[in-house]
Amino acid sequence: MLSKNKGADHEKEILLHSVQPLLNWYQEHKRSLPWREDPVPYHVWISEIMLQQTRVEAVKEYYRRFLDELPDVASLAAVQEERLLKLWEGLGYYNRARNLKKAAVMIMEKYQGNMPDDYEELLKLPGIGAYTAGAIASIAFEADVPAVDGNVLRVITRVTGDESDISDESVRKRIAGDLLKILPRGQSGTYNQALMDLGAMICVPNGQPKCDQCPWKELCIAHQESLTDRIPYKPPKKQRTVEKKTVLVIRLKDGVLLHKRPNKGLLAGLYELPSMKGHCKKNEVLDYVRELGFSPIYIEPLPSAKHIFTHKEWLMKAYLVRADELSETKDITKKDEGWHLAAPEEAERGYPIPSAFSAYEKYIRREERG
Ligand code: ADE
Repeated sequence: MLSKNKGADHEKEILLHSVQPLLNWYQEHKRSLPWREDPVPYHVWISEIMLQQTRVEAVKEYYRRFLDELPDVASLAAVQEERLLKLWEGLGYYNRARNLKKAAVMIMEKYQGNMPDDYEELLKLPGIGAYTAGAIASIAFEADVPAVDGNVLRVITRVTGDESDISDESVRKRIAGDLLKILPRGQSGTYNQALMDLGAMICVPNGQPKCDQCPWKELCIAHQESLTDRIPYKPPKKQRTVEKKTVLVIRLKDGVLLHKRPNKGLLAGLYELPSMKGHCKKNEVLDYVRELGFSPIYIEPLPSAKHIFTHKEWLMKAYLVRADELSETKDITKKDEGWHLAAPEEAERGYPIPSAFSAYEKYIRREERG
């Protein structure tokens, strides 16, 4: 462990020597990314939030679509939540989108629509943590602050040979403090982005790093001492809980049945296909459909599917059920605000349905049989 064996001074020296080779490498190899074309604060902010849990390639299209419809803070502050979630559909982690809107409203009210240029002020906005505040302040406002995410932690712990646990917040803080001392003044945004590109292109998160192409190959302790398999050190992951459920595409004469999820918790406030706990048999499903106030006509099993969340996994069995509405009073959509009958085309365009259900989207749309 570098910090034990060779000390913090040695680590600082390595970091100091890392700056110029990295900047030179970046000049030649930097990725051309849509949010780098015009890095105004709003663009940097939106891209950084999208990039928090999603790969660069996947973000590009969402980013363009989002900015086409919501080109500035004012339009984001004014957008209807449902429309916003629809724009976000597929990116997942929907609280990121809700926080964007909350922060936009605050920026309109407190900062006259201009994003604050100060790291500490940025940190006060919903959804903006230390990494994102650092990225916005350095990239959009040329502030000399670090932006330390998982990729940066990997790159820095490798170059300095640091075997600390990178999931430990105190390690992130220490590394941010170390970077703060060596950032090239006036070019910190460039240095931060160069670290990101090194992490994405050379010192990759999965698989072997491409050390032969790395601007730090002479400097890097993990490379020199063959420690890239051990660094970054991560403690073993907790097992995900597995939830079995039975998903129902219930088609009625006027549309498909959707349920709005509670405003708190997993997939909060999004619309889902109705589901039952566990893996249910046809007759259990038919009983449930009757409980919802409908009269089943036809039932067909659909393929099973799996969706993996961060801490949870859904194992889904599914059925397509065609049913008739019963009387006004029995139908659940007339009694409970959480239930909606959506026309099939509207279900896709107008309701944010999480991608956990994407295996069943085509059955929402599918033409009724004769
Ligand atoms: N990952 C997170 N933020 C990024 C950025 N600004 N450029 C490239 N990759 C990133």
